[in-house]
Amino acid sequence: MATIKTIGILTSGGDAPGMNAAIRAVTRAARYNGWGVKGIMRGYKGLITNEIEEFYSNSVSNIIQRGGTILKTARCKEFMTEEGRTLAYNNMRAAGIDALVVIGGDGTITGAKVFAEQFDIPIVALPGTIDNDLSGTDTTIGYDTALNTIVEAVDKLRDTASSHERLFFVEVMGRHAGYLALNGAIASGAEAAIIPESATGDDQLKTLIDNGFRKSKNSAIVLVAEDPATGGAMGLAERVKNEYPQYDARVTILGHIQRGGSPTAADRILASRLGAAAVEALKEGQRNVMVGLKNGELVYTPFCQALSKTKSIKQSNVELVKMLSI
Ligand code: F6P
Repeated sequence: MATIKTIGILTSGGDAPGMNAAIRAVTRAARYNGWGVKGIMRGYKGLITNEIEEFYSNSVSNIIQRGGTILKTARCKEFMTEEGRTLAYNNMRAAGIDALVVIGGDGTITGAKVFAEQFDIPIVALPGTIDNDLSGTDTTIGYDTALNTIVEAVDKLRDTASSHERLFFVEVMGRHAGYLALNGAIASGAEAAIIPESATGDDQLKTLIDNGFRKSKNSAIVLVAEDPATGGAMGLAERVKNEYPQYDARVTILGHIQRGGSPTAADRILASRLGAAAVEALKEGQRNVMVGLKNGELVYTPFCQALSKTKSIKQSNVELVKMLSI
């Protein structure tokens, strides 16, 4: 394997708070080890359009506290074609990049896997997504911050829900995963979480209402994971209007606000540890792995495993929401 002299770094897919902290850690750790660093703009798209910049230690000054990504991000269709990837590879080699660190979610890792299969390039991925849906790590960069944003919003909604004695459906992100909804519900003391993982043929809304969730309460907040199967918060509120008109339901969709803001200390520490570990992994000769943190320890998970294994929700946490909302 050729020695690594210069690495390229990019962020791709949906942005997540803490990506900047990760970019900083990768850049500084690489420089510390005497490597050159190139910042690639707009994810894989920047490799194709040749938007590649030299990164120095001071290129990443004053960013650890900033949300978003200074490298910008994109979802790139052209990279899904062999021609697009060939163009990307040629630009990468012309820029003297020997290895890549990519930060993003499952789409980013899928791109890295295909790229590494087509060309012989060492790639290490960092899990950067608010969804927390990647196996091979207990939490992903951005998840904790998004969770805190949800809790802050639900705390505010609780005031008005309780004053008006209303039922609120609060829709949160997560793509196909219910982590934000479930743990957001635990942290905010919500009455219930409706998540895709619990949709085992069961009508979660009916169960909730049949169980009489308002027995001892004058208001209720239900966290709903975005999910076309339930129709999300809007779909559930519509059903309440038609099927349970005794409830005065309202909807709040938190949307992209969950992706913004200054990262929490937990996300900054996670991003810093994973960023430095990505450089360490490349030094050790690791390739085509995602670096994650499990039980406080750094672990490497091959791309195919990080993508194929479904990270399951803790069933005990589903029970916890029920138990604590009586
Ligand atoms: O994967 C992150 C995420 O925010 C998901 O939770 C959400 O489903 C999706 O991205 C939204 O994507 P877009 O930025 O394209 O609206």
